[in-house]
Amino acid sequence: MPQFEKDSDFKKVIQQRFEQDGWTATLALPNTIGYDIELIRDSECVAVQVKHQRAKVHAGQLEKFIDFLERPTGAKFTRGFLISASGFTPSVFTYMRTEEVVDVALGSFKDDKLLWEDGDIPPPPKAQLTYIGVFTCKGGVGKTTISAHLAGAFALNGYDVVLIDLDRQSNLRKLLGDGVYIPGRRGGLGATITVLNHTEWREEDYPDTRVVICDCSPEYDANPEAFIEKFNFCLIPTTLNPLGINKNADVIRRTFAAIRRVNITAELFVIVNNYHSDEARRNDVLNRILKTEFETLMADDPQCHYIDPETVAIRFSKQLLYWGYHIVENDKPQLAFREIGGRSLPRTDFLKLLDYLEGHTNIEAAKAKEAAAAVD
Ligand SMILES: Nc1ncnc2c1ncn2[C@@H]1O[C@H](COP(=O)(O)OP(=O)(O)OP(=O)(O)O)[C@@H](O)[C@H]1O
Ligand SMILES: [Mg+2]
Repeated sequence: MPQFEKDSDFKKVIQQRFEQDGWTATLALPNTIGYDIELIRDSECVAVQVKHQRAKVHAGQLEKFIDFLERPTGAKFTRGFLISASGFTPSVFTYMRTEEVVDVALGSFKDDKLLWEDGDIPPPPKAQLTYIGVFTCKGGVGKTTISAHLAGAFALNGYDVVLIDLDRQSNLRKLLGDGVYIPGRRGGLGATITVLNHTEWREEDYPDTRVVICDCSPEYDANPEAFIEKFNFCLIPTTLNPLGINKNADVIRRTFAAIRRVNITAELFVIVNNYHSDEARRNDVLNRILKTEFETLMADDPQCHYIDPETVAIRFSKQLLYWGYHIVENDKPQLAFREIGGRSLPRTDFLKLLDYLEGHTNIEAAKAKEAAAAVD
């Protein structure tokens, strides 16, 4: 909840705080990109970014700040402080831990105090089960990849997840076996991803599970309707591909219609997969076409959403392309969250997707989290 009428008032309060601590704190000139306050003390030069927004700061905002610090324009800074008036989403802490971020510190300003976060993820709240379907009538666009890695992002954030394999090919079982365990930090309890087929799933058998993700078959009729009815929300993967752009729009339209035959309440989200973030012009044109195609559709059904790939998309990544090699190598089941060059694009993208969903749905977990924060 914003505590100041104006953004600039918040910046000034934070500037004064640092001055009291012996820093020389200078507000950046208006329209400076990347930071709001520059701090100098001894041999240190720190970029401070302050966020005065209603929603918690999410992993994408942290990633952008780190990106700035790594660019030539950010090179003079020895580290960065990200200060939020509304706290941070759990994915921010997961990102800090998994990417081993050491040159950024997170600070929360609350009740007139600036508190430094030590990176602990708040425990997931007890709440109702959320059913997420990953479905599109088209084969091979990333349903299994997205189901498994979204489950991975939930598990990294401390949620036990059940993944239900509705596809006859049982790809999830092949890739993850009966399930995987994502260890917690500092000896803390981690979270499990359990893989089941639809006949094995009984809610009462898994009391700790808060999230059920269903990897659907592209053949609509192969998916048990009892599951589609339960979906609270559904992710519909698509791609930005010049040759298939109109066909893809048509596939999504048919997918919406198929789900709506049995479920009129689920929130439906189209997510772009295989995104090539370095092709700005091509993306721009294709994104515009797809968005325009959906405008009429979304006007009739306010529960349909197109996630703008500029905000969140699953980038094309060789880590995802090679996901599954462990099967032929006879290795243990795993996700494509391994690092290449110290970074993991899939892990970052799926943490951002999770943040987006928590911010744009009324999933029980998110609601309970807000309630817990309000009581604090
Ligand atoms: N973002 C990505 N980057 C690179 N490769 C990807 C990406 N997403 C998916 N792939 C690869 O594309 C192939 C198809 O993906 P996946 O099996 O997840 O699709 P699917 O929709 O589940 O297919 P099916 O309809 O057969 O069940 C896989 O080899 C996967 O590794
Ligand atoms: Mg599949």
